[in-house]
Formats: sequence, structure tokens, C-alpha cells
Amino acid sequence: MHRFFIHTFTVISIVLMTLCLPAAAKNANDSFKPGEIWLDEAGTPINAHGGGILFHEGRYYWFGEHKIEGKEGNFAHVGVHCYSSEDLYRWKDEGIALKVSKNPKSDIAKGGILERPKVVYCAKTKKFVMWFHLEIGQNYSTARSAVAVADTVTGPYRFIESKRINAGFWPMNVHGRFKEPLRADETEYLKKIQMRGGPVEGYPLDMIYRRDFFDGQMARDMTVFVDDDGTAYHIYSSEENGTLHIARLTDDYLNHSGDWVRVFPGKFNEAPAIFKKNGKYFMFASGCTGWSPNAARLAVADSIMGEWTELGNPCRGTEEEKNFTFHSQSTFVIPVVGKPDTFIFMADRWNPENAIDGRYVWLPVLFDENGIPYLEWRDEWKY
Ligand code: GAL
Repeated sequence: MHRFFIHTFTVISIVLMTLCLPAAAKNANDSFKPGEIWLDEAGTPINAHGGGILFHEGRYYWFGEHKIEGKEGNFAHVGVHCYSSEDLYRWKDEGIALKVSKNPKSDIAKGGILERPKVVYCAKTKKFVMWFHLEIGQNYSTARSAVAVADTVTGPYRFIESKRINAGFWPMNVHGRFKEPLRADETEYLKKIQMRGGPVEGYPLDMIYRRDFFDGQMARDMTVFVDDDGTAYHIYSSEENGTLHIARLTDDYLNHSGDWVRVFPGKFNEAPAIFKKNGKYFMFASGCTGWSPNAARLAVADSIMGEWTELGNPCRGTEEEKNFTFHSQSTFVIPVVGKPDTFIFMADRWNPENAIDGRYVWLPVLFDENGIPYLEWRDEWKY
């Protein structure tokens, strides 16, 4: 009788353990589940939106916008949150890397707009440099770029400045009359057009950067890309979001060098995310429809400063998936370290009604027989 109980107990334990194993593995996060709530190692939902990843000395660091609940969460009440991981699956909370300021006069005053932070490591200065899109106040009219710096990867980051950029420099890929300040009639024309951050009737292809020549170029959605030779580039939506700019940063990554190009004038690309494979540069982007998703775009170039060629929508799947990029918007592409040709498309599924509940959509970057990247939905996957 006694032996029977022990035996039964053992069998039940084994059955229970086997049943529980998959659940235990799930809790430990060893796969990506796009669109679900992602917990950090302490069991708290990860709060790092519009983010980017830096790999440094054996660890990945994820920096993103810390959002709060409700609509107010669309504004910056906390700062830039940092998490770290060895494998991209399990994330340790490293706290707030850059805090918004309690001083209402500060450029990064609490309650403003601070978006899409990206951190890069400058080997030359041994500093960590964070760039982000900043708006003074709660509307999108100032279109500034801001920079902060730290001695250690997780911060604290010290805010340096925010500004319009490349004032007094003409783009490298325009010539002749396209390098002249606006004429009076053009200034009048521009005043009549109501810019909304998205495509508008009569959008002038060659006026806005000329208007902004003296005071500096607008910059909203953005990323930073460090090339193999250590040169860093700032890629951002400019000219009322109608045109992308790619601008080389100075050697310390803290300023713009004055070298910049315009890409796809009038095409209204946002959410740029760049990676390099076999010497080719690929860029994912989105259209401009605010927090609502739209169809992604893909472009390729042999040199980061162009010429860039459009390759169309990289998404495969249902019409819904293709038209709305799996209900997400790109923010970064992660090169998986130690796995050549393995890249992760990192995107946000925004929730403007309850900003903190925005979700992360990470998908594998797949390549067709010609080496062209494409994206497909996965409920759950591993690299
Ligand atoms: C999106 C942009 C976000 C945020 C939002 C505001 O298009 O990608 O970063 O700026 O608009 O409506």
C-alpha cells in the first residue's frame, strides 16, 4: 500500500512537472511574442517605446520612451528608460537613463515631447551619446534634435542641448538655384500652405529646406546609425516630414558636421530604421499617419549618403498585415551579435489612448533569393 502511494505520487509529480515545463519556459522569456505584454525579469511590463538597441561589452541595452497611463502618456513625464539583456529575451530594468527636468524652463521639462531616443557609443571619446526628437511644449511645431551624454552606458545622461540642425549648410545633393534662400514670392506661397505633418496638396518639393537654411533644419522621427568605420549618421524626417535627411555627425557624435543629403523629397517618410548587410544599406520607414499604422516602405543604397532606391512595401501576408505593417511602425533594426546576417525588425504598436500599453512588435528580417529583406508575421519566434 505504502509503495503504491509513493509510486502514484512519483507518477503524478512527473506528469505535473512535464505539464508545467512549457509554462516555466514561457515565464522565463526565451522567445519573442510580438504584440503581447513583455515583462522584464522582475515581472513588470517593459516600458521603452520608440526605442533602439546598443550592444556594448557583451550586453544589449534597450533605450526607449517611458510612457505613463492614459492620453497624458503621449507626453514625456519620466524620461528615457533603459533595460539590459544578454540574449534580447530576458531584460533587466536599468532604470531611467535620462530624466525629464522639473524646471519648466528646461528644454526637457516634464510634460513636453521627447521621442525615439537612440544611444550610440563613441569609441573616440569613450562616451555614450543619446540623440532624440524633442518638442518644446505639447505640439509638434519646434521639430528639434536633442543630445545627451554619459560616461557609463546606463547613465545618468546629461542633457546638453536641443536645436534645429545644420543651419547655414546646403545639402550635398542639390545644386545651382536649389542652393539659394527663398525668394519673396516663394515665402508667400509657403505661408498659404497648411502643413499637417503628412502629405498636403501643393507640398513644395524644394522650398522648406531653403526656408530653414538660416535657422536650421526641422527634425522629427529619427534614428542614429554608426557605420563600420565609426562614422555616425543622424537620419530624420525633415521639411514638415515630407523629406528625409541623412546627416553626418562630428567625430565626437555630439554635433552635426554640415554634411547632409535630402532623400525622397515629398515622399513623407517617417520612423527610419537602418541596417547594413553585405555592403548594402537598407532602410525601413513608414508613411506619416501619426499614431495610426500605415504601410511600411523599404529602400536600399550602396552608400549611406545615397543614391537611395525605393523597394516598396517589405511586408508579406494578408492585405491588413501589408497595409498596416502588422499594426506597427518601425523604430530600429537590431543586428544579432555573433549571428551573421541575422537582423530583427523592431517596431511599436502605439496605443495613444493609453500610451503605457503600447506594444512591441519584433519580427525577423527575412531575405528573398535576391537578398532583398522582407517581413512576415510570427505569433512567437526565436532568432
Ligand atoms: C508618429 C511618430 C511618433 C509620434 C507620433 C505623434 O508618426 O512616428 O514618433 O511622433 O507620430 O503623432
